[in-house]
Amino acid sequence: IMDSKTEMMDAIELLKWQLELGVDENIGNSPIDRFSEIALDPDPKKKNSISEDQKMPKLNTAITQAKSLAEQSENLDQLKNSLANYEFCDLKKGARNLVFSSGDPDANVMLVGEAPGREEDIQGIPFVGRAGQLLDKMLRPIGLTRDKDQLDNNFIGTAYICNVIPWRPPQNRDPNPDEIEMMLPFLKKHIELVGPKIIVALGNISCRALIGQTGITKLRGSWFDFEQTPVMPMFHPAYLLRNTAAKKDAWSDLLKIKKKLKEIA
Ligand code: URA
Repeated sequence: IMDSKTEMMDAIELLKWQLELGVDENIGNSPIDRFSEIALDPDPKKKNSISEDQKMPKLNTAITQAKSLAEQSENLDQLKNSLANYEFCDLKKGARNLVFSSGDPDANVMLVGEAPGREEDIQGIPFVGRAGQLLDKMLRPIGLTRDKDQLDNNFIGTAYICNVIPWRPPQNRDPNPDEIEMMLPFLKKHIELVGPKIIVALGNISCRALIGQTGITKLRGSWFDFEQTPVMPMFHPAYLLRNTAAKKDAWSDLLKIKKKLKEIA
């Protein structure tokens, strides 16, 4: 009894120490089912025993299911519901909330981010943290707001925002290629239902999903197409928070968006 009590006290001290270091979440790269036989098996080699051969059919099923659920969605509410019922993306298991969208569904400009962060996961709304606040500050000078009720003479239109991935990845890691691929049918449908005149791809993950390319430093500032809709790749606002010198590039991209909007809207 003494031994297990000592062990417990040690464990508590260890946890306190971790808290002091700032550890406030305990999440791995992907969720582990600790009740499954593999998780209970002490042989560590077996833990990652899903072979490539097993992975492919799993991914194919995930994509097929995503396509079918997305296809059945006739409006944004149904699409949100389909996402809530989609069980093939493991990120969902570690997230608090489905983070679907924010802004005006009738907007001419649709911005596509990467995946929710901590604040977004808590509130269930995209781009509400520091990056989101910066994004709002960037949109305002070119006359865009995501808040329809704010529309007055100072604005030329509204914006709508979603992410490639609607669930927060653990520790904000990048979504992996399989996760992006299985969520793509939902994103495509999302864009189809909103029908924007211009899409803004924020950062590499979004560029990968929408135009099949990465390398935001080279891609930004030029127009691409996503199924006939013009796409402007831009630095992600979270990147701009860390690299303020890149804000001048973002400003030049915003001006291009404003110009295009005047031409086509
Ligand atoms: N970064 C993103 O890409 N999306 C969010 O919703 C928040 C931060």
